[in-house]
Amino acid sequence: MALLIKNGNIVTATDSYVADILCEDGKIAAIGHDLSAPVADEVVDATGHYVFPGFIDPHVHIYLPFMGTFAKDDYNTASRAALVGGTTTLIEMCCPSREEDPLEAFDLWLGKAQGISSCDYTFHMGVSRFDDNTEQKLRTIVERGIASFKVFLAYKGFLGVNDDELCKTLKLAQELGVIVTAHCENETLIAERQQQLLAEGKTGPEWHEPSRPVQVEAEGVHHLMAFAEATGAHVYVVHTSCEPAIRAAEEAKMRGVNVWVETVIPYLTLDSTYAEQGDFEGAKYVMSPPIRAVEHQNCLWNALRSRSISTVATDHAPFDFVGQKEMGRDDFTKIPNGLPSIEDRVNLLYTYGVKRDKIDLHTFVDAASTQAAKLFGLFPRKGTIALGSDADLVVYDPMYRGTIAASKHHMATDYNPYEGWPIEGRPSLVTLRGNVQVRDGQFIGKDGIGEFLKRDCTH
Ligand code: URP
Ligand code: ZN
Ligand code: ZN
Ligand code: ZN
Repeated sequence: MALLIKNGNIVTATDSYVADILCEDGKIAAIGHDLSAPVADEVVDATGHYVFPGFIDPHVHIYLPFMGTFAKDDYNTASRAALVGGTTTLIEMCCPSREEDPLEAFDLWLGKAQGISSCDYTFHMGVSRFDDNTEQKLRTIVERGIASFKVFLAYKGFLGVNDDELCKTLKLAQELGVIVTAHCENETLIAERQQQLLAEGKTGPEWHEPSRPVQVEAEGVHHLMAFAEATGAHVYVVHTSCEPAIRAAEEAKMRGVNVWVETVIPYLTLDSTYAEQGDFEGAKYVMSPPIRAVEHQNCLWNALRSRSISTVATDHAPFDFVGQKEMGRDDFTKIPNGLPSIEDRVNLLYTYGVKRDKIDLHTFVDAASTQAAKLFGLFPRKGTIALGSDADLVVYDPMYRGTIAASKHHMATDYNPYEGWPIEGRPSLVTLRGNVQVRDGQFIGKDGIGEFLKRDCTH
């Protein structure tokens, strides 16, 4: 099967040029001018469009038992939504609780995706406990193609690790060349602040941010940096929301710590006033770390432009407003944490980043695709447009104008945090290994053809 995409403006993390792309047997077979393809099943005219490498979302939750409920999407809805938004590869957090066996959990999470996902996928293996049996099981999981771990320095007693476990995880990762992704917040300070606020009768969603102030996040990053420095492990700080947290990572970087920083689209586009909306609307914007005051947003854009931030993910963690967010009506600590954005990340980053002159097109591709591929052992199979790379391509229409609405999104949630937001561009065609999965905002492809991506340890 062949597909020829003609005359698109090909944009990678480093280059921009007009050319044709021939896709054969799932790979990019030729890039050049006036390519002819007598055997091409389909010829797409991409004149006036960008052609980007398939985008990678390196931080999503799909199967997620969490805070007394389950995240709303499954791989059917989440992968379709991802593809419609231009994302062709997902890296999901496999998040076993402390009581679950790591190998059983890995198989459980894998089973949720296999044969169901319509885009490619892999996992960061969550380590929520490190006892005598853990090490061998983690080694087996790495042999099965996992090249990154995940630890939580929050959610103590459920997902969070203690310092002894953190140290052991980092040492093993360092030995294996595995990168460790980490949620950084000081759980003790959070618990203390939550109890104090509730005792003062401050129960609404607007108190979520004050319960986890920026110092709490910065302390988490400092803490991880000290352990990374001591063990030599390579680490990746997930969902960084604020200036002090970025500074903590930057200072460590200057000391020689191998650390990379992720932010997520909600922090770049929303601010703390959204959680202050009345009628419990604010609950739609409760996630951890919290969405910050607007000045942090500016800092994040600058850090992205200067490449202090490597990646822009979603931390897609979808919960309905009705029945799920509502669990915390009388107590903000019971609102399931997380926002759905797997479908809208790329269009938001393009519209509110590139089109508003906050970042250029190459930074956009780098942060939303290439860096994730490089950091997590997928490059150059994914993350670029080059001979032999997977034919995961996004033909992007910069002339499209539309608005985001829950009524037409593909995610399973009953609301969209970006309801009514204008979008200035969207994918007109999305391919996964040469298969056309999306046309003009509609999933028209093959269900369940997503592959589990085995990765090599590269750190
Ligand atoms: O609020 C969030 N971020 N929910 C998902 C779980 C996590 O901490 O990433
Ligand atoms: Zn987290
Ligand atoms: Zn997360
Ligand atoms: Zn490394």
